[in-house]
Amino acid sequence: MLHFQEKRFIVVFVFLTSLFSSVAIGQHLPRLEKRGAVTQLIVDDKPFLILGGELYNSSSSNLEYMEPLWQQLKDMHLNTVLVAVSWQLTEPEEGRFDFSLVDGLIREAREHDMRLVLLWFGSWKNGLSHYVPDWVKQDPARFHRVILDNGKATETVSPLGLESGKADARAFAALMAHLKKVDGRENTVIMVQVQNEVGVLGAVRDYSELANTFFHQQVPKALIDGLKMYEEDLHPQVRELWERNGRREAGSWNEVFGNNLLAEEYFMAWHYADYINAVATAGKAQYNLPMFVNAWIVQPEDKRAGDYPSGGPQEHVHDIWRIAAPNIDILSPDIYLPDFPAITEAYTHSWNPLFIPESFAGELGAANAFYAIGKHAAIGYSPFGIDGIADSPQASALSKSYSVLEQLTPLITGAQSDNRITAFILTKNQSLITQKLGGYKVTASLSQNMRSGEFLSDNGYGIVIWEGDDAFVVTGSNINITFVPDTTGPRMAGFLSVYEGEYLNGSWESGRLLNGDNIMVNYDLSNEAHHNRTGTGAKLGSDPSILKVKLYRFE
Ligand code: DGJ
Repeated sequence: MLHFQEKRFIVVFVFLTSLFSSVAIGQHLPRLEKRGAVTQLIVDDKPFLILGGELYNSSSSNLEYMEPLWQQLKDMHLNTVLVAVSWQLTEPEEGRFDFSLVDGLIREAREHDMRLVLLWFGSWKNGLSHYVPDWVKQDPARFHRVILDNGKATETVSPLGLESGKADARAFAALMAHLKKVDGRENTVIMVQVQNEVGVLGAVRDYSELANTFFHQQVPKALIDGLKMYEEDLHPQVRELWERNGRREAGSWNEVFGNNLLAEEYFMAWHYADYINAVATAGKAQYNLPMFVNAWIVQPEDKRAGDYPSGGPQEHVHDIWRIAAPNIDILSPDIYLPDFPAITEAYTHSWNPLFIPESFAGELGAANAFYAIGKHAAIGYSPFGIDGIADSPQASALSKSYSVLEQLTPLITGAQSDNRITAFILTKNQSLITQKLGGYKVTASLSQNMRSGEFLSDNGYGIVIWEGDDAFVVTGSNINITFVPDTTGPRMAGFLSVYEGEYLNGSWESGRLLNGDNIMVNYDLSNEAHHNRTGTGAKLGSDPSILKVKLYRFE
């Protein structure tokens, strides 16, 4: 018989081993982690860049349809595929779950050495509710719908409805519990998007009786507390409305934010964020993966909320989402507009790492991926409809750039956390940009024919990484990079060397030493010298490549 002390020892031992093993499993899970200046996605305990692609909406509903796609996606140098998982197919009858599609997707992804981001098409997809199970669609009395301002009913589930929130959370929790069981060790699934592009379409808010009642009630105290907590950091419009209406600490939505459409949009944002936070919380309680939402962002032709999904995580309601949905880790933009730099900036906050789940492929996509990752420390990029472009020039442009980003991932993620990296997107309208890095003014210019001055392409892009001292790695396409000292000391900098090369299994393999025509960008030496330039630059041609640059200073 065991002595009391021995028993106590065994209990403590078992407790500690289970604690350590759960800590160990937790440590290995894909997670977001603050490293230095930025938040990074950690997969297999290393910083990971999602070189992704999102499938068309219906592709992942059939494994046979998917079969030929995997190798094509692999050949495009994707490391992650974003795939829809619908509530409709997951819970065809209430309480009966079918995870065969998810299991099949995980199996195929593993066979092709790919990761997955699951897109939970639950209560909403593009604002609408077409992916809910039949038993939800057919029971509007139980699962409240959004009513428009003209009194007409929609198919859209209302975020005010308690029953749909509970049912969605239950289904999502079941999915996450299943993932933990089948993937908790291998971590093929690295992140989950909770719903898709939510918000009311067709009206600024839900005008159902239920919603009207809530709208005329008090703004939740948690929102007021949050506004106070983040007061210094609020979006100017939120702060302005709150202050203009007396910075009230209690009152209805109209009293706190005024009699305007924004008050109604904030109301919807609160309820979507609150609902989705509850769904995410139920999922994370089962299996704690990073979770994000994506925004159908405001389009130039939109006149008011409701033209774009009202209440979705648009930039101007980030504060509301941040306060209402602490268990949503990232608010992401879907970017189909030309001003990629401005939109990515609007979605990058110290508390919100950048991830772009939907955007363009092709040359533009390559430029976007480089820019988001190099300029805003994005955790990844993913063009939409990736299965539609296999074998096209669009695929080849993307895959060449992904191949370079893949080689540079350890270097890039290290430089992101130390703030030693920047990036450029150039167009014919903005063909020259200067930024500061590593004690230099680094100028990127769109490649030109040296004699005629004609641009060699419509777009150029690049990343510059400072390796310490006077050494840089530059990568990109259709740009020239020049360096002018920005610290005291000799005012000009020339190249000691510019090597092209590749990183093979993490080690640098030099190719040609570039010199002569391959580094000359301007023979007008008098004017160049006047600006402390030497006429030389690191020249990146149309196929994305990597150059290692060493400088020396003189005057
Ligand atoms: C954005 C949505 O999130 C996607 O599911 C898809 O519908 C695309 N729009 C189509 O452009």
